[in-house]
Amino acid sequence: PSSIKDAYGALGMNAGVAIDTREVGNDAAKQVVLKNFNQITAENDMKPEYWYNDAHEFSMPENAKTLLHFAADNGLAVYGHVLAWHSQTPDWFFQADENCADQNPTAGVIEGCALASKDQMLERERAHIENVAKAIADEFGKFGSDTNPIKAFDVVNETINDGDSPETNGMRNSLWYQITGEDYIDKSFEYANQYLNGEYAEPGVTHPVTLFINDYNTDSAGKLGRYQSLIKRLVERNVPFDGIGHQMHIQLTTSTANVENALETMSAFGKKQAITELDVATGTPVTQAKLVEQGQFYYKMNQIIKEQQEKHHQFFSVSVWGVNDGRSWRNSEGAPLLFNDEYQAKPAYTGFIGDKDNL
Ligand code: G3I
Repeated sequence: PSSIKDAYGALGMNAGVAIDTREVGNDAAKQVVLKNFNQITAENDMKPEYWYNDAHEFSMPENAKTLLHFAADNGLAVYGHVLAWHSQTPDWFFQADENCADQNPTAGVIEGCALASKDQMLERERAHIENVAKAIADEFGKFGSDTNPIKAFDVVNETINDGDSPETNGMRNSLWYQITGEDYIDKSFEYANQYLNGEYAEPGVTHPVTLFINDYNTDSAGKLGRYQSLIKRLVERNVPFDGIGHQMHIQLTTSTANVENALETMSAFGKKQAITELDVATGTPVTQAKLVEQGQFYYKMNQIIKEQQEKHHQFFSVSVWGVNDGRSWRNSEGAPLLFNDEYQAKPAYTGFIGDKDNL
C-alpha cells in the first residue's frame, strides 16, 4: 500500500486522523492528511463547550465549520467527537440556575449554586444534540446526503470508572452520573438516533450516522470488564447504539495480547468497533532504536486489526490521534505518531501500513 488509507481501505474500513485548524492552515500537514487518510476527527473543536458563547447561546464553532468544510470539499468522512462527556462541557449545564455559573471548561460543583435536576440535565442534552444536528444539517445538508460528511459520532465518551467501583456499578462518578445515573447514556443515544438518523437525515437514506460509545484503557482487564458490563446493560435496555470505540492511547510496554483481547471480547456483541484515538508513546529519551521498536509495535497493531477484521468484519475505522509528533498531546511521553515534525514517515508509518521488512 502507498498510504494508510490504501492499507485499511483494502480491509474495508476508514483510516482516520484527528486534526484541528492548524492542519487545515498548513500545506505540508494538509498534504499528509489528504494522501493518507479518508476520515478526520476534530481533536477538540466539536466538544460541547465550543458550541456556546458566554451568554450560553448556541452556534456552530467557526473552527468546527472550517474542519467540516475541509472534509466536505475533499471527500473525507467525519467521525464526530463528542456529544456527551464529563469534560469540556460548560459548567452551567450542571447547574439548576444556568446563570449561577459562568462558562468554565471544567465541569464541577460551584459553591453557592444548586445542581441541576435530572430532568433539566436530560432536556439540556436533548437540546444540545438537536441543535448540533440542526446546525450541521443547515450548513451541509441532511445527514446521509452527498454534501454532509458526518458518518459516525462519539455519542458518549469516557463513562467507565478507571478503578474498580462497585458503589457506582463501575461507572465514572461524574456529575452526569451523579445527577442522572446511566439515563444520560441511554437518552443521549436515543436523541442522537432521533435527530442524526431521523429528523435531520436525508429521506430514503437509512441510518447514515454510526453511533459510538467510546472509552480508553480497554486493554486493561478491569476497565474492559466494566465497559463490557455497561454494554451488556445497554443491549438489554435496547439502547440504540451501533458501535464500541477503543481510544488506544498506549505505549511500547502495552501488551498487544491485551489489545487483541479487548477487540475480541467486544466482538461478541456483534456491533461495529473502532480504534478511535490511537497513539503509541515510546517513552523518553526517544532513540532511533525506540523508533524502530515503535515501528514493530505499529506493525503488530496492523496485524491485529487485519486479523480481527477478517474474522469479524466489524471495524468502522481506525484513527490516529494527530498527524505529527510535535502536535500530539502526548509528545512529552515520546514521539507517539506516524510522522515526524518534518512530516516524514517514521518507522511507525511503515509498520502501520503492514510492511515489517523496511522499518
Ligand atoms: O486553544 C488553546 C490556546 O488558545 C491556549 O493558548 C492553550 C494554552 O493552554 O490552550 C489551547 O487549548 C488546548 C487545546 O487542547 C488545544 O491545543 C487546551 O488547553 C487543552 O486542554 C486541549 O487538550 C486536549 C484535550 O483533549 C482536552 O481534554 C487535547 O488537545 C486533545 O488531544 C485531547 O483529546 C482527548 C479526547 O478528546 C478524548 N480522549 C482523550 C484525548 C486525550 O486527552
